[in-house]
Amino acid sequence: MEEQVSNKQVLAAGLIAGNPKQTDMYLQTSTITLQLPPEASNAVLVKNLYLSCDPYMRGTKTTFGTRLFYSFSPHSPIIGYGVCEVLDSKHPNFKKGDLVWGVTQWEEYSIITTMTDSLFEIEHTDVSLSYYTGLLGMPGMTAYAGFYEVGVPKKGDYVFISSAFGAVGQLVGQLAKLMGCYVVGSAGSKDKVEILKNKFGFDGAFNYKEEKDLNATLKRYFPKGIDIYFDNVGGDMFEAALLNMRRRGRIAVAGMISQYDLDEPQGIKNLVNIIYKQIKIEAFTVYDYYHLYPKFLDTVLPYIREGKITYVEDIAEGLENGPAALEAMFTGRSAGKQVVLVARA
Ligand SMILES: NC(=O)c1ccc[n+]([C@@H]2O[C@H](COP(=O)([O-])OP(=O)(O)OC[C@H]3O[C@@H](n4cnc5c(N)ncnc54)[C@H](OP(=O)(O)O)[C@@H]3O)[C@@H](O)[C@H]2O)c1
Ligand SMILES: *[C@@H]1O[C@H](CO)[C@@H](O)[C@H](O)[C@H]1NC(C)=O
Repeated sequence: MEEQVSNKQVLAAGLIAGNPKQTDMYLQTSTITLQLPPEASNAVLVKNLYLSCDPYMRGTKTTFGTRLFYSFSPHSPIIGYGVCEVLDSKHPNFKKGDLVWGVTQWEEYSIITTMTDSLFEIEHTDVSLSYYTGLLGMPGMTAYAGFYEVGVPKKGDYVFISSAFGAVGQLVGQLAKLMGCYVVGSAGSKDKVEILKNKFGFDGAFNYKEEKDLNATLKRYFPKGIDIYFDNVGGDMFEAALLNMRRRGRIAVAGMISQYDLDEPQGIKNLVNIIYKQIKIEAFTVYDYYHLYPKFLDTVLPYIREGKITYVEDIAEGLENGPAALEAMFTGRSAGKQVVLVARA
């Protein structure tokens, strides 16, 4: 008989409406055999190393387009992105010892069956493995696709990023600086604003919670207007950005986190600006751009190695701290890209 080991898990307590709270999840210890059964074709058995806390990990109060998967099924482990080590494989693309990132579950060991098409092999391990949950994973790819493919930037452009200290925003701002753009970001605390200016070299940053009139705030930072607005939050900020766009400006909509938890979606009044100023508004999903992942790595990895791109993470140690970490990500308490360390490689 193969050896059974214990498998700590984080499960959803019930159906979750809106942003998850720590109390919507609970811990349980089950057991698992660290070998796949012979009939498990295309499956991989993994040891989870890092788990990612992302804004799509929420209930169904408002729908966010068509999702690949829902993170919360009552009394099942939370589903989300992670970095894992392959312990056993019946999938032709993966073998024992491989490091991968992709869709896994919140537990120590997982058998991945249906989502093996969203696993990426990690080939570069000279950078922090946790980066494959953020900077070099799904959020990083979102930043890259949204900025270059949707934003279509050029040197000298005026670029505004909301939730600029987020997992996506941190990279958008640094890519924009490297391209020679003028970059301003918004974030929800004084500390985050300081890091944007001092560590990431943003030309300006402000705490949106302290601004009374966002239209006037953006006017102050962009007297000549905005060429690219990378939208992560929607709502009032989207409205204010619309009023401050330049002619032929582009709004790349990655997400609208201020809207996900509302009972009634907020209306936008000043849409007429899109015709006055010939603004392009384009929403996108990272899933349509994964074919660019090798090109993305070729661009970003050298910058990381040269120290030209950095990343701030908030790593919660231990699976048992996962539920609090997920809640912290939604409420803005995370001091960087929120990651959960399950085990070291
Ligand atoms: N299109 C895609 O394929 C794709 C892929 C990944 C992510 N996304 C979306 O892209 C956006 C950025 O994702 P991310 O992973 O980098 O997450 P993120 O921006 O770090 O999101 C979490 C942060 O959002 C801010 N926030 C929360 N509620 C807010 C509100 N009502 N108004 C303004 N800010 C609020 C908080 O920071 P503060 O302290 O600044 O308030 C919080 O820490 C999200 O909207 C996400 O849904 C889209
Ligand atoms: C936005 O600000 C501009 C310039 O300060 C001003 O002319 C305009 O009336 C404002 N729009 C709204 C809707 O507040």
